[in-house]
Parts: sequence; C-alpha cells; structure tokens
Amino acid sequence: MVETALPSKDDLAAAGLRLEIEDAVATITLSRPERRNAMTGRTWTTLAHVGHTLPPSVRIVVIDGEGSTFSSGIDLAMFSPEGVEGETSALTNIGDDAESRSALDATIAAYQEGFLWLRRPDIVSIAAVRGHAIGAGFQLALSCDLRVLADDAQLCMKEPALGLVPDLTGTKPLVDIVGVSRAIELCLTARKVGAAEARELRLAELVVDGSELESAVQDLVAALLATSPEAAAATKELLLQAPHNSLDEQIVAERRAQADRLNALARQLGV
Ligand code: ACO
Repeated sequence: MVETALPSKDDLAAAGLRLEIEDAVATITLSRPERRNAMTGRTWTTLAHVGHTLPPSVRIVVIDGEGSTFSSGIDLAMFSPEGVEGETSALTNIGDDAESRSALDATIAAYQEGFLWLRRPDIVSIAAVRGHAIGAGFQLALSCDLRVLADDAQLCMKEPALGLVPDLTGTKPLVDIVGVSRAIELCLTARKVGAAEARELRLAELVVDGSELESAVQDLVAALLATSPEAAAATKELLLQAPHNSLDEQIVAERRAQADRLNALARQLGV
C-alpha cells in the first residue's frame, strides 16, 4: 500500500507512537510507558508509514521514548498464542512450506521497512536513548544515524537469548560499528552494554547526564540544521557509500557529487 498522508493520531496511538513535526524536525516518541515502550508489528508498519509520508521539509528525525525506558523491544505478548489485541501473534501461520515461508518473509520485510527509511540521505536520524534499549529497541537505535545516550542507558541484543535472531536491520550497523568479533560477543551473550562502554565501542556519539538528554539533542539538531540541506543530503549519500567503495570509486563519487553541487550553486547565483 502506498500511503499519501501521515498516520492519524489514533493510528499512531494504536501503534504506541506519537509524532510531532515542527518545521524541519520530526520527533517520534515510543509511547507505551506502561509496557516500557514495547513495540509490536503495528509499531513497525506505522513507522514505515511515517517514513513514506514525512513532508519533504523534514530534515531531522529524533526518536525517543516516553518515561524511563527507550524501549523494552518486541512486546513479549506477541509470542503468546493470544498475541496482542488487534495484532497477529508472532506464532500464528508459521509453517515450513514455501507459501508459509514466503508469507513470513513478506511480513518481516514490512516490519524492516519501519527501520530502513531512517538511513535516507535527505534526513539525519537521531536516537535519544534513556534507560533500556533492548532487542528491537536496540535495533531501532542502531537504525538511526546518530545515538545520544543518557548515562543510565543500557543496550542489549536480547534476541539470541530468546531463541531468535536480530532481524530488524540491526546486524549490519552493529557489525559496521563494533566489528564482527565484538558483535558476536554482544549478541551471543545478550549482555547489557552500559552508556560508558557504548561510547567506547562507538555505539554512542554522545553520552550525557540524564537531565541533559533533551538539551543535548536540541543542540545537536540546531548544529545539524546549520548546514545547507542539499549539501547535507549529498554528503550523507557520499559517506554512506564510502565503506563499500574502493578509494578509486569513492573519489569518482566525490567528483560527481561536487559537480552536481557546483552546478546547483551556479544556478542559484544565476551564473
Ligand atoms: N513486552 C511486554 N511487556 C513488557 C515488556 C515487553 N518487552 N517489557 C516490560 N513489559 C511490562 C512488564 O511486564 C511490566 O508489566 P506489569 O506492570 O503488568 O507487570 C511493565 O512492562 C514494567 O516492566 P518492569 O520489568 O517492571 O520494568 P523495569 O523498568 O523494572 O524493567 C526492562 C524494564 C529491563 C525493559 C524489563 O521490563 C525487561 O527486561 N523487559 C523484557 C525485555 C525483553 O526481553 N524484550 C524482548 C527483546 S527481543 C526483541 O525485541 C525482538
């Protein structure tokens, strides 16, 4: 389905989300504090809906959590036969035949859409993490370009401890940031990484006192908004390519991007 308008407040609330857009900044708040901001399939498809319909004026997306916890990950009731009200249990319609596998593949792909768009070059995404970011919550933080952590933050890839794999786009950024060996250690022990260690491992760009999380994020947003939107998008696109390119490929990409920029600037100046 191609959505044309942002999800309604009611749709967002049913997905455990709130959305505020103020000029160039969209703030998505995980808001089921009574369940420590646990997420469901609907949370992720609604996140995808937000990504598809954000106004083009939005340059920064901040994701935070209501209350003391960023997110406790998937709503564990999704694994009970009853599931969560209004949602299909993660355990229904599972089968090893091709049709069941293909249906499950499509379901997970739709969930992954909720995470993928946060890497788009035209926006910078920031996770503001207070307290726990567990499982899907950690993967959501990993999907963002930048992570600002309160000093009480605890990151944990819990999936293997529950007999699962992390499948919400988190394994790639985790390995890119900490390397394969550390990623194996973190995932296969499912241990909690505190804020100080997260900074050491480069899983956090910034760690601040809990009372300063909002103001630190606001300062970062203001600094990011100081650059030209077009140059920011072109630069992010270049930086995203860099790990996969050889030096030769990357310098060609730099030249091409700069030619685009110079042409755009010349057009603006009327020369
Ligand atoms: N799903 C559903 N309900 C949850 C979840 C969850 N993931 N996490 C917490 N809750 C509920 C609790 O059951 C409790 O409900 P109750 O008040 O009806 O008893 C309420 O939220 C508060 O939870 P507490 O455990 O009391 O909160 P606390 O702040 O002490 O701990 C923490 C927070 C660390 C997040 C803990 O709740 C926890 O470990 N939750 C489970 C995490 C988990 O295993 N997530 C799945 C990861 S795998 C994945 O995401 C794919």
